[in-house]
Formats: sequence, C-alpha cells, structure tokens
Amino acid sequence: MSIKLINKNISDIDSEILIEFLKKDELVGCEHSDILQKAGFKAEQDTTCFLYEKGILFCGVDSKKSDDLRSAASCMIKMLKSSNYKSAKISVISKSTLSALVEGIVLGGYEFNEYKSEPKKAALEEISLAVNDFDFSELETIFNETLIVANATCFTRDIVNRAPQEINPQTLAHVAQTLAYDNSLLCNILQEDDLAKENMNAMLAVGRASVHGSALIHLAYKPANPKKVITLVGKGLTYDSGGLSLKAPTSMVTMKMDKAGACAVLGIIKAVSELKLDIEIHAFIGAVENMVGGNAYKPDDVLVSRSKTTIEVRNTDAEGRLVLADVLDYAQDKVKADYIFDFATLTGACMIALGQYTTGLMGHSHKLKHDISRAGNDSGEMISSLPFNKHLKKLLKSEIADISNTASKPYGGAITAGMFLDKFIRDENKNKWMHFDIAGTAYTETPWDCNVYGATGAGVRLMCEFLRDIK
Ligand code: BES
Ligand code: ZN
Ligand code: ZN
Repeated sequence: MSIKLINKNISDIDSEILIEFLKKDELVGCEHSDILQKAGFKAEQDTTCFLYEKGILFCGVDSKKSDDLRSAASCMIKMLKSSNYKSAKISVISKSTLSALVEGIVLGGYEFNEYKSEPKKAALEEISLAVNDFDFSELETIFNETLIVANATCFTRDIVNRAPQEINPQTLAHVAQTLAYDNSLLCNILQEDDLAKENMNAMLAVGRASVHGSALIHLAYKPANPKKVITLVGKGLTYDSGGLSLKAPTSMVTMKMDKAGACAVLGIIKAVSELKLDIEIHAFIGAVENMVGGNAYKPDDVLVSRSKTTIEVRNTDAEGRLVLADVLDYAQDKVKADYIFDFATLTGACMIALGQYTTGLMGHSHKLKHDISRAGNDSGEMISSLPFNKHLKKLLKSEIADISNTASKPYGGAITAGMFLDKFIRDENKNKWMHFDIAGTAYTETPWDCNVYGATGAGVRLMCEFLRDIK
C-alpha cells in the first residue's frame, strides 16, 4: 500500500472511498447526519461507520488534535484493510495534523506476517492525502520526514518481532551490519574475545550459558559538521529466560522483546541518517542471550565490571543492568558525547509504576528531562520521570561487593535499576545522561493508539523528535 501527498482539491482526486473525521458536535450539522444516526454512529473516538453506497468512511474523534487523529487514523486503516476497496482519500485539515495521519496510517496499518504461511493480502493499494490552500513544498517536507521516522519505527518493530531462534546476538550483529551498509554508517562489532580484552566481565557473565556468542555492536553516523554528538546505548537481550533465577513460564513468554532497546537504537540511527540531521550519532548495543546451563553465571557470583566496580549477583534475571554497566562504561571511553541516552526493557517494576503506556525516564538533569518530556508530547509517545533518591540508592548496598545487582526491597524497582546504572556514569557525564525504561511500552499484546499486536517501536519517534529540535 502506498500513501501519497497530492496538491489538489479533494473533489478532484479519483478514489473509491472518502475518509471523514468527525467530532460529536459535528454530527448533527453534517450532510449525512440522518443516516449516521440510524446506523447508531455517535462519533466516539476510535469508532468508524462505513457508508458503502456513499463511498464514505466516517471516523469518530474527540478532537482534531494530533493524538486523537493518529489513533483514529489507525482504526480507519485497519477497517479499510479488511475491506476490498483499492483506494481512499483524505483531506488534510491543517499542517499539524499531517504527521498524525501519516503515523496513524503507517503504524496502525503495520502487520508482521513473516511467519504466516498464508498472510492475508489487503486489496488497498493507495491512500491519497489531499492538500490544498497550503504551502505544498513545506507540507511535502513534513510528509517525507514523517514517513522516514514511521518507517524506521516499523524497521525496529520488525526486528523485535522476529523469533528468538532467528535473532540471537550474532544475527542481530548482522542486522546492524546490513543497516550500516545500506545507510553508509560506520560499524564495529566486538566479539567475545574482544570483550574479554576489554574486561567486560559483567556483560560476558550474562551471556556465558548461551550457545550464541555475545557481541557489542557500535554503529556511527558522522556528518561533516555535527552540531552535537549523541551516544545511544541499547539493551539487546535477544532472549531473557531469567538465567538460573529462571522466570516463571508465563513471564518468559514475550521475552524476545528484551532486545527492544537495541532495536530502538537501530531505528533511531537509521532515521537520523535518512533525515540527514547535522548530529553525530553513536549507537552501542550489548547483544546477549540470558540462558541456563552448567556454565551459567549464578546468584552469589561477584563480577568485576569493566569500570572495576565489583557487582554481587543476587538475581540472574536482573541481567540488563549488568550488560548496560559494561556497555555504558565502554561507550563513555570511546565517545565524548553531549548526551548519553540508554534504552532498555529493564524492569517489570516500571510497568507497575507507570502502566504499560508510559516510558520511564530517569536521570539527574531537570533541564534535559524537561526537553525530553516536550519531545514526548510532540511525538505522541508518553513518558514520565521517575525520581532518584538517596534512600532508594542505599538498597543497592552489598555486604561483599561494591554494589548488588538487585535492591533489598522490591518497591521502586525501576528507580533502583536506574540508580544501579548511574553507578557506571562518570561524574562529568551525570547531567548528560538519561535512562529510558521501555519495559511497558516496547511491546503490546493488545492494540492501543497506533500500536498493533507485538513490538511498538517505542523510543524511535520520541528520540527523532528530540534530535530534530536540538540546538
Ligand atoms: N527483561 C526484564 C524486565 C521486563 C519484565 C521487561 C517484563 C518487560 C516485561 C528484566 O531483565 C528483568 O527480568 N527484571 C527483573 C528485575 C528483578 C529481578 C530485580 C524484574 O523486573 O522482575
Ligand atoms: Zn531479566
Ligand atoms: Zn531482561
């Protein structure tokens, strides 16, 4: 299915179906109000009413603001894809709603059919967005940029959705290499012997029981005169069984998504390079599989991390922070960045704290939190700050090592995990670093907003919005 921006009056576009977004208060005065009323259509948000004979698909919205239009466009595209119509048209009502419509159509219409032997083929071939009375070239730029970010979000979703027998640390490294080749990025992969030379013992311990070697992936996008240098770090647990602190069977299902931080980082660098932003980006990914076996790392082990901080392992299921500890330390040595952002499906506690629809944001800089929150609002991704404090920090104390990998109390588990990472952020970088816990937002088994079953691509739209506005 293609989506086109056309500089014409909507009535001059030849399509089978006209899409109309309708608020409750517009229902009464509308041309088809009688028939809509008879059909029981109340213009509730995310409901649709198909007037087949008229060739109109009505979509209810609470408002014509971006968040509501994005969600309604997602419902609309699902409805259209289940019909046998080939073409549809929408009139773009304002500049600011163009992005929301494109995101709703691309992200809401996304399907992952890789493993279906007979995927349904939608008849829908083309959606035309009619823009008239606006500056067309300005809209064309918005349209193209939105498509780049939405497609990068789908790229992230595709990798997360792949099964764990297909995506392991080594094949994830190949995915990164292919992306580097396609988008002219620099790429360096550290294999286990390289990681050993780097003393990345915390990361290596987590992957030890896996038959797939762990890998550290470093991609870089380097434009000629960058305004800023950004380091992105992604948790790439291609599978998290919990290790010897084995997860319960029902909690283990969906743990292929523990690589979502890594995949978000790949999607972000893909989008930034295609948008040709004047920002240097370094993506560092810790690609590891957390398994069980005779050589598995154990609760009670003490690991000497790359930064020399010793870590008492009390739970092998708190493995993401161990991987990130070493990758963050490595990244800080390799790149002097203006900002360091890590993305990780780090804690179930983040979901308990914020629900499944909101990413947890942690760090020290209030200004940076504020700027990122604004990008959250503008991008349609919800984020909320979880505050560090000295009392929670004490819970990470270990009797025998410098720090424990789990807190002594479960409350505030997302924050204690963030504070564990903070231990590996150097003083000069404290105000440059933010941690994004995407455990709740990266994956869904029930559709919401423009997210369909499976990976959501959380972090991609948000970071692209932030990076586009960077001064
Ligand atoms: N990958 C999980 C976190 C997670 C849970 C992500 C659910 C998405 C959905 C992480 O490695 C983990 O297992 N964390 C533990 C930490 C605990 C042992 C301190 C958790 O959240 O239970
Ligand atoms: Zn875990
Ligand atoms: Zn994990």
